[in-house]
Amino acid sequence: MLRYFTAGESHGEALVAILSGMPAGVKVEQAFLDRELWRRQQGYGRGGRMKIERDSAHILSGVRHGLTIGSPISIQLENRDWKNWQESLPVAAGDPAKHKPVASPRPGHADLAGALKYNFAEARYVLERASARESAARVAIGAVAKLFLRELGVEVLSHVVTIGGVTVAELAPWEKIRALCDKEEILLNCADLEAEQRMKDEVDRVLKTGDSLGGVFEVVAHNVPPGLGTYAQWDERLDALLAAAVMSLQAVKAVEIGSGVAAAFAPGSAVHDEIGYAATSGFTAFSRTHNNAGGIEGGVSNGEEIRVRGYLKPISTLRRPLQSVDFATREPVKAAYERSDVCVVPAAGVAAEAMVALTLARCALEKFGGDSITETLRNFNGYCQQLKNF
Ligand SMILES: Cc1cc2nc3c(=O)[nH]c(=O)nc-3n(C[C@H](O)[C@H](O)[C@H](O)COP(=O)(O)O)c2cc1C
Repeated sequence: MLRYFTAGESHGEALVAILSGMPAGVKVEQAFLDRELWRRQQGYGRGGRMKIERDSAHILSGVRHGLTIGSPISIQLENRDWKNWQESLPVAAGDPAKHKPVASPRPGHADLAGALKYNFAEARYVLERASARESAARVAIGAVAKLFLRELGVEVLSHVVTIGGVTVAELAPWEKIRALCDKEEILLNCADLEAEQRMKDEVDRVLKTGDSLGGVFEVVAHNVPPGLGTYAQWDERLDALLAAAVMSLQAVKAVEIGSGVAAAFAPGSAVHDEIGYAATSGFTAFSRTHNNAGGIEGGVSNGEEIRVRGYLKPISTLRRPLQSVDFATREPVKAAYERSDVCVVPAAGVAAEAMVALTLARCALEKFGGDSITETLRNFNGYCQQLKNF
């Protein structure tokens, strides 16, 4: 079974991720991992930190001579900002005068709930772990999951659908989303260039006023075979697993599969994807008129593209802070401000790709098994043949 964990504080020495259960023999390219980490750091509206950090995956174990060896894979990401925080966040007691307390909780962030839960007098330790810096560790192991999925011909990417009041008019086809991923300069990772400019204007507007923005990204998994996940048990449904995986990302407050939200307001005749038998490519000859189901029916992948949308609330650290209370005095004050992003929808999309890839890799391994990629592929190819003969 594929399992994974992350550890590390936002301004600590490093982040660490462990991925266990990956079969042996999967080719691991350092450049691919680093490119994925770079993609997570892009997007107009990121804060100053992204200029300091240029993440690189330091693989500590589980990969030898360029291949996975079936042992747990551990990856370390150095926090380049650590040099500025060594005295503020030492492992030892250190000098309390040099600590940097978060004196007043930010509405919308984890500060107050976390301080109450862990009985902290202020929110420094809460911020350190709740921060989405953690999502970089997921992107690193998600990249390994992507390399495994690539062996099966599956690719996972994302694009931005909405920022603030701007939403793309049309569903982006896979080729356009694929092309976005090869760009060397990423503005807002939107497949519609005209809409992307208007999105940038939205970000500029909030930059001027000290406010922030949320939005919507869509993750697309291309060439997923039918049969991943199952309706047989509630916690094995692919839609449920993907929803939890994407919702687990910081600031994601709603998840949609296919056109799930609009479907709730439309009649069945307009929603369901009619079935034909005329496909010339794909796993079977079964075809669909459209893909409102987002590639999943009954908690099972149906052979169409999997489309999952994540809805992000606006960033909660505001340059023009909201009302809060001082932890020490309980007097009304403005919420704490610490260097912050103002819009992170493209980056969240990349982190969500990692979560979708890890989820699909887990489901694929549950279905096809295999301690080596040779064994996994033998089972996978046998299943593909079974589909062809269906
Ligand atoms: C890629 C990414 C970057 C983020 N950067 C910031 C940030 O700079 N400042 C901030 O206040 N929140 C940021 N967030 C959101 C917070 O991490 C998140 O709102 C907070 O941890 C509370 O969790 P919740 O929103 O899920 O309730 C970011 C989220 C993502 C996905």
